[in-house]
Amino acid sequence: MAFLCRRAASLLKPSGAAPALLSAARLYSSGAQYEYILVEKRGEKKDVGFIQLNRPKALNALCDGLMKEVGEALNAFEADGDVGAIVITGSDRAFAAGADIKEMQNRTFQECYSGNFLAHWDRVSTVKKPVIAAVNGFALGGGCELAMMCDIIYAGEKAQFGQPEILLGTIPGSGGTQRLTRAVGKSLTMEMVLTGNRIDAQEAKQSGLVSKVYPVDQVVSEAIKCGEKIAANSKIVSAMAKEAVNAAFELSLTEGNRLEKRLFHSTFATDDRKEGMTAFVEKRKASFQDK
Ligand code: HXC
Repeated sequence: MAFLCRRAASLLKPSGAAPALLSAARLYSSGAQYEYILVEKRGEKKDVGFIQLNRPKALNALCDGLMKEVGEALNAFEADGDVGAIVITGSDRAFAAGADIKEMQNRTFQECYSGNFLAHWDRVSTVKKPVIAAVNGFALGGGCELAMMCDIIYAGEKAQFGQPEILLGTIPGSGGTQRLTRAVGKSLTMEMVLTGNRIDAQEAKQSGLVSKVYPVDQVVSEAIKCGEKIAANSKIVSAMAKEAVNAAFELSLTEGNRLEKRLFHSTFATDDRKEGMTAFVEKRKASFQDK
């Protein structure tokens, strides 16, 4: 509990241990208090930022407040020099069942357009540190889009992915038509987006949407392990690697290769590149300083 801020202690209520612990778990050292998510640092070295969506009654429907909190937690982890990777997860039943339909039900076009509705969701895809989605249960609509904004997706055996917006008379609005197409190709994306059909974890693995499938109770721990592995590397070089891979979705092959080469050259400006290669030659483990 060392990572929790002092304010947590002052908020502990005398009315029983469970709520008190819950209050504490909702606080991260930034001092922010969260209503819809649980935030902590995980891993042996506490170097993996962990965000758990926590609106169980609504199957983690992504209301505005929840996504604002996710953005705040990401900002805190991005600024935390000890954190080298971030894991986002939900519950066993639902990663997230989509944007909050009840919240959207009466919105007008004018409100959506003028307020740039959902623009702040993009924060998930602009974080420099690697983000892993650990998905159990439903990842539908905005939930599937949230997972796809992450860099790596691990799925539990009972996970289901879908873009069912068409059944609500709308279409994906946070990258579903774009990221899903890039991940699984046109035919399967069209089928999912036009019919609302879901795919299960195995289909998601076969089609390239997720990289690993685990038993339900192991997805989060495996995602944390992956996060720890990433966090053991140089944070600055990991950010460059992430930037280079993401460029593959934006640039032509020639431009992408040019950017990769420039970033590769840039690693030679870091102490960590020197340390990594020196450690290899000296037959010892590298000790990266993120410089
Ligand atoms: C608000 C939701 C919700 C959602 C579930 N709930 N999904 N509330 N927004 N997206 C609420 C239900 O209203 C219900 O609360 C409770 O969660 C449990 O849901 P049930 O339907 O009773 O559970 P179940 O029968 O097990 O069915 C699970 C489900 C179904 C298949 C996931 O809930 C469902 O189809 N949900 C909607 C999925 C969806 O269409 N997602 C896309 C949303 S649009 P109450 O209190 O009413 O009992 C979207 C647009 C993205 O994401 C645009 C860009 C981000």
